[in-house]
Amino acid sequence: MKKVMITGALGQIGSELAERLRRDLGVDNVIATDIRKPENNPTVENGHFEILDVQDYDKFLEIAKTNKVDTIIHLAALLSATAEQRPAFAWNLNMGGLMNALEVAREVGEGTKFFAPSSIAAYGPDAQPDNTPQDTVMHPTTMYGVTKVSGEMLENYYHDKYGVDTRSVRFPGLISYKVEPGGGTTDYAVDIYYEALKNKSYKSFIDKGTYMDMMYMDDAIDAIVKLMNADPSRLVHRNAFNITAMAFEPEQIAASIKRRIPDFEMGYDVDPVRQGIANSWPNAIDATDAKTEWDFSPNYDLDKMTDEMLVRLSKKFAEEGVETKVSFDTVES
Ligand code: SER
Repeated sequence: MKKVMITGALGQIGSELAERLRRDLGVDNVIATDIRKPENNPTVENGHFEILDVQDYDKFLEIAKTNKVDTIIHLAALLSATAEQRPAFAWNLNMGGLMNALEVAREVGEGTKFFAPSSIAAYGPDAQPDNTPQDTVMHPTTMYGVTKVSGEMLENYYHDKYGVDTRSVRFPGLISYKVEPGGGTTDYAVDIYYEALKNKSYKSFIDKGTYMDMMYMDDAIDAIVKLMNADPSRLVHRNAFNITAMAFEPEQIAASIKRRIPDFEMGYDVDPVRQGIANSWPNAIDATDAKTEWDFSPNYDLDKMTDEMLVRLSKKFAEEGVETKVSFDTVES
């Protein structure tokens, strides 16, 4: 991984990955792309950035070839709740974009490294809900999940047939403070920190008792880098590894926040669509194979993540002049 092209680089994962890879590989060795080019955006301004609609194959190929990239990290896709509202569009964007990305990787040359994330959404309601095995039935009942499981198979196909060095993980809900996710089912676990600081209260659109896997963004970015640098001879699996750092339900994240904001109030205003999606996903997946094959090891548990989120978001709100009811410079561990 020496020269990397990232699609969807302005998204929740992409913005942090671009920053990390610019630091690791050098600013000129990361080509960040997205469908829009906003002003005053650090991903746009701190390095090489190009506008790319991933459904435009010719432009995709041109950018990859001109810059002689050896790695494609394809992040442009719709998340679960948005995909459920617009299933046909979601299929076209998620699968069409992935197909273009894989074709570009094949065209660029054998051995091109390739990453596109899968998700806990690749599982359906008939999978074992707790300690969900890496290799088991995958019968998702959401359009997002259908694109994820199809994507895993397509990535394995391009590896086996064309020698594209495809690798992937099934991400859990990702929690971060820099860029908010959009249209995901696990987004409540990000929103809650924003509202805890601004209002000391939150109404969750996911019901109490609903367990889902989660992970702090630092661990997610580390996981991508570690997997892409892993010794291929150790990889029994490729697309895609289960990874998770924690599994919790809304009452538990609320309790974690209450350690620092004792009068934080949690309420519920359940969204049936996102609740239905969450109910079809596992409670807690098993990440043993990622640990065995490439030493996956997350650093953040729920309380450590909560402390980090409260401090980092406080700083961000202060910089942006956003009014809050409470703020943290630091927290005692
Ligand atoms: N965080 C994603 C979502 O909720 C799951 O991959 O859609």
